[in-house]
Amino acid sequence: MSSSIPTITLSNGVQMPAIAIGTAPLSGSTAEAPQSNPNYVGFFPERVTRSVHLALQAGLRHIDTALMYRCHEHVAHVLRQWFMESSTRKLSREDVITSKVFRPPAPGFGLDDTTVDISSLSVEEITAKVHAHFEKCLVELGVGYVDSMLLHWPSAGGGAGNATTKNDNDSSSGSGMVKIDHDNRAKRLAAWKVLEHYYNTGWARSIGVSNFHEVHIQHLLDDGAKIVPQINQLETSVYIQHTKIIQYCQEKGIAVFAFSPFGRGVMDMEKDEILLEVAKKQNVSPGQVALAYLVQHLKCAVSFYSSSKERMEGNILACSVHLDPEDVTKLEMLQRSASWGLPSPYTLT
Ligand SMILES: NC(=O)c1ccc[n+]([C@@H]2O[C@H](COP(=O)([O-])OP(=O)(O)OC[C@H]3O[C@@H](n4cnc5c(N)ncnc54)[C@H](OP(=O)(O)O)[C@@H]3O)[C@@H](O)[C@H]2O)c1
Repeated sequence: MSSSIPTITLSNGVQMPAIAIGTAPLSGSTAEAPQSNPNYVGFFPERVTRSVHLALQAGLRHIDTALMYRCHEHVAHVLRQWFMESSTRKLSREDVITSKVFRPPAPGFGLDDTTVDISSLSVEEITAKVHAHFEKCLVELGVGYVDSMLLHWPSAGGGAGNATTKNDNDSSSGSGMVKIDHDNRAKRLAAWKVLEHYYNTGWARSIGVSNFHEVHIQHLLDDGAKIVPQINQLETSVYIQHTKIIQYCQEKGIAVFAFSPFGRGVMDMEKDEILLEVAKKQNVSPGQVALAYLVQHLKCAVSFYSSSKERMEGNILACSVHLDPEDVTKLEMLQRSASWGLPSPYTLT
C-alpha cells in the first residue's frame, strides 16, 4: 500500500487532500473523557495541539476545524511551530485549512461567541455576525486566508438519529423530511452571501456548506447564490451512506466531505462481521475498509479524528486499499441510519 494521499479537485480547480484530521475531539461519555470530571459535556480543545502535531508527523496535510470547536488557537500554535521549522518539517502554506462558521448553539457547547442563534437573529444581524465570525477565524488561526470556509449547519434543531438497522437512506423522498422554514432559508442565503464576498476577496480559496441536504442547496441556488458551493461536509460512513445527497452534490460538481467516518467511536467497527470479513480478505483493519469505501467507492474526502499516530498512518494507507465489486456489494448493505447522534440533515428546517 502506498502512503500518498489522493486529492479531490474542487469545481474551481483547488486541490483538496482527500483525508483530513478533525479537531473536534469527542466529548461526554467517550473513552477520552477524563474520569475525574464525568459531568463535563463539551469538547476537549486542549487535546487538539497533540493530535494536530501527530497528524502532521503522520503526513496529513489537511486540518478540519470550526469556530465552534474553540480550538483555532491550538491549531495556530502547532502551525506556527511547523512553519518556523519548515525546512525540516516540510509544512507550507499551500497545505489546507478548512474552517466553519454559522453554527447554532448546542447545550454545553460554544459558550462564548462562537455560534449564531439563527432563529432569533434578523437577516441583517446574521450578515453582521457571519462577517465578524469569519474575521475571528482568521485572527484565531493566525492566517491571512483559509483554504475552505463552510456554513456549519443549515439551521438549529432536528432530532438525533438512532442506531437502528432500518434503511432510511431515502429520507429525502419520504415523509422523513421536515418542511423548510422560509425565515431560515433567507438567513442561509444571507450567510452564504458573506462567504461569497470573502471568496471574491481571496480570504477563502473555496467555500461550501455542511449538513445541507439537496433541498437546502437547491434553495441557495434558486434564491440568488452566485457561486455554487464547492464542498458539502456531511456525516457519512458505511452506516450512513447518504447516497441521494452524494449523487445530487456530485451532479452539481460539489465535493462531498464525509465527517465521522468511524461512527464517532460509538460503533465498534472492530466487531462488525461484514467489515471483519472484507478486512481479512484485504489484509487490513475494519476501520481501514470503512475509510477506503468512502474515498474509493463514494468518492468523498474524509475528516476523521484519532488520538493515535499509528491509526492516522493506517488511515492514510487505507486510501490505497482497492475494494473489489464483491466487497462493495457487502459494504453497501451496512447502511442503517440517517444520522448517528447528530441531527440528520433531513430533520433540519
Ligand atoms: N461538520 C460538522 O457538523 C461536523 C460534525 C462532527 C464532526 N465533524 C468533523 O469530523 C471530525 C471527525 O469526527 P468524529 O471525531 O466525530 O468521528 P470519527 O472520526 O468517526 O471517530 C473518531 C473515533 O474513531 C476512532 N478511530 C480513528 N481511526 C480509526 C480506525 N482506523 N478504526 C477504528 N476507529 C478509529 C478514534 O479512536 P482513537 O483516538 O483511539 O484512534 C476516535 O475514537 C471531527 O473532529 C470534526 O472535525 C464535523
